[in-house]
Amino acid sequence: MVIFSGIQPTGRKHLGNYIGAILNYVKGQDKADPAIYCIVDLHGTTVQYDPAELRQRTRETAALLVAAGLDPERCVLFRQGDVQEHSELCWLLSSVTSVGQLNRMHQFRDKAGAARDRVSAGLLFYPVLMAADVLAYRANEVPVGEDQREHIELMRDAAEAFNKRFGETLVVPEANIPTVGARVRDLKEPERKMSTTGGTPQGTVYVDEEPESIVKKFKKAVADSGSEIVVRDDKPGISNMIEILAVVRDTTPAEIEREFEGSGYGAFKTAVGEEVAAWLAPVREKYLEIKDDTAYIESFLEVGASKARAIAAPIVADVREAMGVGPVR
Ligand code: TYM
Repeated sequence: MVIFSGIQPTGRKHLGNYIGAILNYVKGQDKADPAIYCIVDLHGTTVQYDPAELRQRTRETAALLVAAGLDPERCVLFRQGDVQEHSELCWLLSSVTSVGQLNRMHQFRDKAGAARDRVSAGLLFYPVLMAADVLAYRANEVPVGEDQREHIELMRDAAEAFNKRFGETLVVPEANIPTVGARVRDLKEPERKMSTTGGTPQGTVYVDEEPESIVKKFKKAVADSGSEIVVRDDKPGISNMIEILAVVRDTTPAEIEREFEGSGYGAFKTAVGEEVAAWLAPVREKYLEIKDDTAYIESFLEVGASKARAIAAPIVADVREAMGVGPVR
């Protein structure tokens, strides 16, 4: 089984990225053959950005993934822009993706807002490049958080449409979305997901944040009205913290509810904050140790890119062949 996932280099990585996706990347290393992970710098060019910062953040994101437990020798870890098959397949897949479908994507509508006619064409094309990322490896499974569900649907549609029109060539991938922690919420505004772009700074916990600061953020988290510690629709703040603690302890939300029954919100929030801080501390330490070691990071990314190219090149060649692009092989 082939696993593929991608992560954006823009923005500081937060607890939502960690719980919703990165934890599953790490688990994927033991069950996939191979597990392929990519830092999507090309996707990072679809919004306003600074080139030097993009390059820097791409390396930092790679360092964070290694700090979180990805082993560049056991998985394929690379930078999207280093493997040209992604851009080529993106173009080839544009023939089986409609403009209407791209225009309807929620993330596009949210990001473009009222400036729909002025945003880059790249932003509209974002999901096609993402489809190319996965389909170039004939990946079976894509570990992601809940917010990527629509993007996975689009890539499945593209693969099905391609196979129907040009013959069986591509694998239709499945999303792997965690049952608990698929949508970690902002601690201050729990109606919203935790996010570097759309969330609040005080409600966002970063993977590389100082432990004391993490505890403080949980202490100040919005805890809904009432006093029960239960997962319920009218308690988005408390439900979120129950889910977070369940993931940290590798147990179920029901177990957390039982343990904290009768506790006050203050004690519960402090407990969650302290456990999250202790859980992330080793990742932060390892990250700080390697994040400025450019030579090390560039060297494993280069090895990753050549492993990735070796898998993607023959698959993209099959796509060209099926579409009648280039000479007969
Ligand atoms: P990105 O970089 O925004 O997010 C990386 C991963 O983190 C998950 N995530 C969350 N999970 C739970 N709760 C949250 N609050 C939360 N916020 C983010 C995301 O679902 C994602 O899995 N389009 C992708 C990058 C991408 C990709 C791909 C993913 C490019 N090509 C191919 C899979 C396969 C993105 O923007 O992720």
